[in-house]
Amino acid sequence: MQTLGQFIIERQKEFPFSKGHLSRLLRDLGIAAKIVNREVNKAGLVNILGETGGVNVQGESVKKLDVFANEQFIAALSAGGECCAVASEEEDDIIPIQSDVSRDAKYVVLIDPLDGSSNIDVNVSIGTIFSIYRRISDSGPGSREDCLQAGRHQVAAGYIVYGSSTMLVYTTGHGVNGFTLDPSIGEFCLSHPNLRIPEEGKIYSINEGNYQDFPEGVKKYIKYCQAQDPATGRPYSSRYIGSMVADLHRNLIKGGVFIYPATKKSPNGKLRLGYEGNPMSFIVEQAGGKASDGYHRIMDIRPTELHQRVPIVLGSTSMVEKVEELIRQHDPVASNEYFIG
Ligand code: AHG
Ligand code: MN
Ligand code: MN
Repeated sequence: MQTLGQFIIERQKEFPFSKGHLSRLLRDLGIAAKIVNREVNKAGLVNILGETGGVNVQGESVKKLDVFANEQFIAALSAGGECCAVASEEEDDIIPIQSDVSRDAKYVVLIDPLDGSSNIDVNVSIGTIFSIYRRISDSGPGSREDCLQAGRHQVAAGYIVYGSSTMLVYTTGHGVNGFTLDPSIGEFCLSHPNLRIPEEGKIYSINEGNYQDFPEGVKKYIKYCQAQDPATGRPYSSRYIGSMVADLHRNLIKGGVFIYPATKKSPNGKLRLGYEGNPMSFIVEQAGGKASDGYHRIMDIRPTELHQRVPIVLGSTSMVEKVEELIRQHDPVASNEYFIG
């Protein structure tokens, strides 16, 4: 049995000039994840369910667990000494970090501390998503520019799913590995080495309630999934939890496609590029899958805003390519054009 800590140290040799800073940063995230997990498991017993009454920068109502998770990750990253700035879904602007321990910090972290907030109060899987970049500024606390790099510059990304068991899945650009929390010893243990997403899947995940609002190509894809064609195994199954982490985790293991498209109301979709789109794209690509906004590779989009949204199609390569083909055919002009570069 190999723990996350042992695995991280062993893998450090994949970075010949690394002095262990990234390893320590990953360890800090793992510790905060265990604290959040402890609270998630007690939800219902202690006063942690429900809303704070506040609204975040994106106009969404904030849950108590959103706030708790946000505080825990920021505290762990501030104290760890490897992170010079955090950008969080729950914070309007970046949190620059400057302290004695973080003087040599080389990394910035973008984070969705609690993903799937609408599922907190109903005991359904939720998650955390993180994305790590090397800073581009020279020294001092990190800047907005450090946090606005294209996804292809990520040095690591991962998620934690607080599900029927708690798992941490991450990549540093050398494949994807999954660890399951063993509550009896309080350690994440390697359970899913070298995760690969099947090239073809039979699950599609999308909020079909928004059907009328979808681009024509996405509507056509849904009809394609529902058509009967024994040769290709259709109809496919529809599975949608409403927590991106949980939906993506299932599709990563079983094969499938997760779609949160542009809609008439939200031409950029709902999900955020920095702490949802990019980290999940990095993981899916490292597992052998594909991640697209319907037209471009998500990780090539150059962000201009901290909380920028992006339409998302990610999962098994051949399924993502089928969605892209239908979007190209039926929606030749994107509702929004990004700067690619
Ligand atoms: P968050 O809870 O971090 O705001 O993310 C919510 C997301 C994501 O987890 C999920 O895929 C999506 O919102 C679900 O949205 P709909 O309810 O519109 O389907
Ligand atoms: Mn989220
Ligand atoms: Mn969130």
